[in-house]
Amino acid sequence: MSTATNTFENVKATILLAHKSSTSREKSNFYNSWANNYDQDVAVLDYRAPSLAANSISSHFSGNREAAVVLDVACGTGLVAKQMRRHGFGHFVGIDGSDAMLELARKSGLYQDLKLSMLGDEPLPVQWGLFDVVVIVGALSLGQVPVDVVRELCKSTKPGGYVCMTTRSNLTNKEYKAALERELKQMEEEGLWACVEVTEVEDWERAVSEQEDGYISGAVYMYKKL
Ligand SMILES: C[S@@+](CC[C@H](N)C(=O)[O-])C[C@H]1O[C@@H](n2cnc3c(N)ncnc32)[C@H](O)[C@@H]1O
Repeated sequence: MSTATNTFENVKATILLAHKSSTSREKSNFYNSWANNYDQDVAVLDYRAPSLAANSISSHFSGNREAAVVLDVACGTGLVAKQMRRHGFGHFVGIDGSDAMLELARKSGLYQDLKLSMLGDEPLPVQWGLFDVVVIVGALSLGQVPVDVVRELCKSTKPGGYVCMTTRSNLTNKEYKAALERELKQMEEEGLWACVEVTEVEDWERAVSEQEDGYISGAVYMYKKL
């Protein structure tokens, strides 16, 4: 593992490279090559989405945290489980499309089970209705996890369980975010879940696109499965 901290300009160049990946193979190659520097690089970006999602889950979940089973979709190296562990959650299953990311998640020792799966190409590899909490952070955006996968996140949740999702609210993700919100609302109208809270956060992370500077905003969505 690399120990030197990257500069903001280097991290920005890395992420702009990710935007050039279009096929699933390019996507997994990109994350495989980024895995060892990922935690340090996202710290340079002041990436707070895992802790914001964990705080939101913690403020709504009233069950037994040690016993609850959490599905961490697009788990990466395990930053979300690490934050949720601080709030008392103890059982995690992780899914990701990059085997190098999964290897680091495995080394974190936080997950009971980890599965390799490229969502959008294949169905979520879990049993429906099993999880107390399903969380997806930093992966609902253009070129990553397609919007329609949120239906599978809902299916994998126990009735009464929670689904926590995040997305970016910046220019480059505007259309994706609008499509995501249409799908979330449609599913609510179908009686699949109820919206518990939507939190828009201004200082989500440092901007990396050419059109923006400073901080971009983002959102955390909490839904309760009916
Ligand atoms: C920005 S990282 C977020 C990781 C972690 N959730 C976090 O917040 O640190 C995005 C992760 O999503 C995974 N990913 C992107 N698209 C995916 C897809 N279609 N199916 C499965 N995993 C995907 C990548 O491999 C990567 O680990």
